[in-house]
Amino acid sequence: EPTTSLKEASTTFFVGMAVKAEQLTNGSKYDEIIKNEFSSISAEYEMKMNIIEPTKGNYNWSKADAIVDYAIANGINVHGHALVWHESAPDWLANYTGTDAEFEQEVKNYITAVLTRYKGKVASWDVVNEAINDSNGALRNSIYRQKMGDNFVAKCFQFAREADPDVLLFYNDYAVTTNKTKQTAIFNLIDDLQANNTPIDGVGFQMHIKYNSPSVDEIKTAVDKAVERDLKLHFSELDVRVNPNKDITTFTTERAIAQKNKVKEVVSVYNAIPLENKYAITVWGMKDDDSWIINQYNNTNEWPLLYDSNFEIKKAHTGFLQGLE
Ligand code: G3I
Repeated sequence: EPTTSLKEASTTFFVGMAVKAEQLTNGSKYDEIIKNEFSSISAEYEMKMNIIEPTKGNYNWSKADAIVDYAIANGINVHGHALVWHESAPDWLANYTGTDAEFEQEVKNYITAVLTRYKGKVASWDVVNEAINDSNGALRNSIYRQKMGDNFVAKCFQFAREADPDVLLFYNDYAVTTNKTKQTAIFNLIDDLQANNTPIDGVGFQMHIKYNSPSVDEIKTAVDKAVERDLKLHFSELDVRVNPNKDITTFTTERAIAQKNKVKEVVSVYNAIPLENKYAITVWGMKDDDSWIINQYNNTNEWPLLYDSNFEIKKAHTGFLQGLE
């Protein structure tokens, strides 16, 4: 009896996968699994500004187009990630020497160019990613904040809405369920946006989590804050570290079961929110050895995703399906 596919089981929200254009060649294992299992894709890095506008005024659309065209050809949703992020600002912008007004115009030009090109093709965008710092909940002192002011987030959402009246506009960040100071600051930011009628449709919790954290209650507390603000909620970058303390050298059955149960909890909490707040759960990579986590934590003994290095489904895949029951 073949396993039910994630997208067949998930009838009320998209199940997404982070992809790289090179993975999408027709007939590749990635292509096969995405077509069978997933109903949405995000670009892991190729729809960021440092890739699309690497030098001032010179746009390179090839990778983004490849991803968007693949999605359209296969009837798959595209979530755009990410228009404004301090870590993916191209050098020419990050080291901008012009006036504040000229900087702001460059950002507006970029947002306008991207949203215009993908209007009707990309359903949603992370307009601003990770604007709040980890320590005290203040705005990061990024080049965007320095040159555009504390209200740079609102300005970027307004630029996006002016370019496309229909696209869903998200604020995206990490540790939203576990860093309570950051969680409060993120929702204060969103409250300010909403109070000033800044167009925002949703919030993304990246969900780079661990086999033993966050708890269900922590997830629910954060999720409730999105739902009570009538926001669409995107679990935008799900992966589940099973070896954060580097205390195992093989993927033990015990950690595999814990990972499965954590995925089940995450999906179950998400599946229980009202339909109008649902958007997608996006998994941040296909197979374990593709994960950014291995390089990030310099640890090859990590197995954070739903498929193993041979593209075989793991217990975590079963956990996702169980969360939908
Ligand atoms: O594939 C190219 C390769 O051809 C080239 O030789 C090499 C050296 O330039 O670069 C390779 O591309 C790298 C790409 O990952 C694929 O591995 C980029 O340099 C590298 O910057 C990119 O890192 C991505 C990172 O965001 C920065 O864009 C990671 O894949 C991606 O997982 C990570 O994702 C972020 C989210 O956007 C935001 N939330 C946190 C998350 C993890 O950091």
